[in-house]
Amino acid sequence: MPQSSIPEISYNPRAAVMRDTGVSPADLAWLAPRLESARNEVLDDLALWQSGDEVPAAKQPLDAGFIDLPERLLAQYAAKGDQSELGRIQAAATRLASQVDRVVVLGIGGSYMGARALFEACCDPYYNELDRTQRRMQPRIYFAGNNVDNDAVTALLNLLLSHERERFGIVVISKSGGTLETAVAFRVFLEALTEACGGDMNKVHELIIPITGLKSRLRSLAGALGCTEIFPIPEGVGGRFSIFSPVGLVPAALLGLDVVKLLEGATITTKRFCNSPPGENPVLDYVGICRMMETRRGATTRVLSTWGEGLEAVGLWYDQLLAESLGKDGQGALPLTTVNTRDLHSRGQQHQDGRRDKLITNLIVDRPRREPIAIKPSTLNQDLLNDLSGKTLPDILQAALNGTNKAYADARRPTADLHLPRRDEASLGQLFQMLMLSTAVEGRLVGINPYGQPGVEAYKKHMNEFLRK
Ligand code: PA5
Repeated sequence: MPQSSIPEISYNPRAAVMRDTGVSPADLAWLAPRLESARNEVLDDLALWQSGDEVPAAKQPLDAGFIDLPERLLAQYAAKGDQSELGRIQAAATRLASQVDRVVVLGIGGSYMGARALFEACCDPYYNELDRTQRRMQPRIYFAGNNVDNDAVTALLNLLLSHERERFGIVVISKSGGTLETAVAFRVFLEALTEACGGDMNKVHELIIPITGLKSRLRSLAGALGCTEIFPIPEGVGGRFSIFSPVGLVPAALLGLDVVKLLEGATITTKRFCNSPPGENPVLDYVGICRMMETRRGATTRVLSTWGEGLEAVGLWYDQLLAESLGKDGQGALPLTTVNTRDLHSRGQQHQDGRRDKLITNLIVDRPRREPIAIKPSTLNQDLLNDLSGKTLPDILQAALNGTNKAYADARRPTADLHLPRRDEASLGQLFQMLMLSTAVEGRLVGINPYGQPGVEAYKKHMNEFLRK
């Protein structure tokens, strides 16, 4: 099986287990059966969703369909190949990539943050500046429709239209199909695309991939435009839990990423979640430490402290997942993403000596993707760096991590380490699934429905009222 070659991510909370300021082994033992009950409830939610039976009012909305989505997609791919959803996603991405060199991904919240996380984590940091061969014939990717910033939209339109008659592609993503930011952006970029195609609507519809719910205004609009390949966001899969649906997979395929490895990674986490006891289960252990730190030690801020560049958008994806899922009924920890060593020089002081309301989780990539750069000896040694000659940038990053962990431990600040073997599709698939399952488990543990976002709906309603009065 290909999966066996995928190294597993690991969660090590040892430095969070400490007297007075951290979690005690007794607390974790007390929590273990409660975590197992919460896991059972999450799996019962999945079974209920799979059964198609009516969902009781207390459980609505129920978006447990994300849990087995990677398995379902992979099984269908194995059985039906090109005819499966994954096969069709890859074919649509290949077709669009062969037609255009620039694609705008329109979407907001859960409808774009996963794609952005994959883009930043798995692609070259200067991807859009590489030439087409260096991009392995994949298009440049831009994100829009996640704001209503006039100047930003103008700048992107200018960029797209500055290439005389060069057509571009649009991937428009909205589950509800009614989110104003995305809908307005689609109208604006559709007009620009129509102009770039010289008004030929037969060309226009070929360059658009809509991804939307089964009944939505966007689906009707895409139908009216003549779009032939419209990808669904399945019922029972909520926006911020949709990274393994076409919402994340179409942009990933357009970037030439290995979507099979991504999904295989996710299935590894699901198996570990279902089968391993607390103490050996990254999902349950992560929830346990976070909960105990919050309830016993007042750690209401959860810092996801990423090391190196490339994982910031992964952190922002998680910020949204946690905040929108559990920030309800006056509850919910505050998620915060940092990038180190950059933010040691901005937030580090407060995290070490400020209010004791934080749990730091280090997100560490074990191996860089590129050959390590080493410090070379120099005749210009005024900076005294010759002492460090031979040390590599990964050595320095590791020393910064070790130094920070030691400083926090000395100050009795609890920390935990989350390791990704590589910054690649297989590791990220495991991580995304781990964080989605953790969020669902924590919701069930504390009696908050992790699905739905009633507060956001209220802002959308009021915004529409103000615009239309
Ligand atoms: O997690 C969620 O459900 C939200 O963040 C949505 O993804 C976001 O509001 C966008 O909604 P839609 O896809 O319906 O445009």
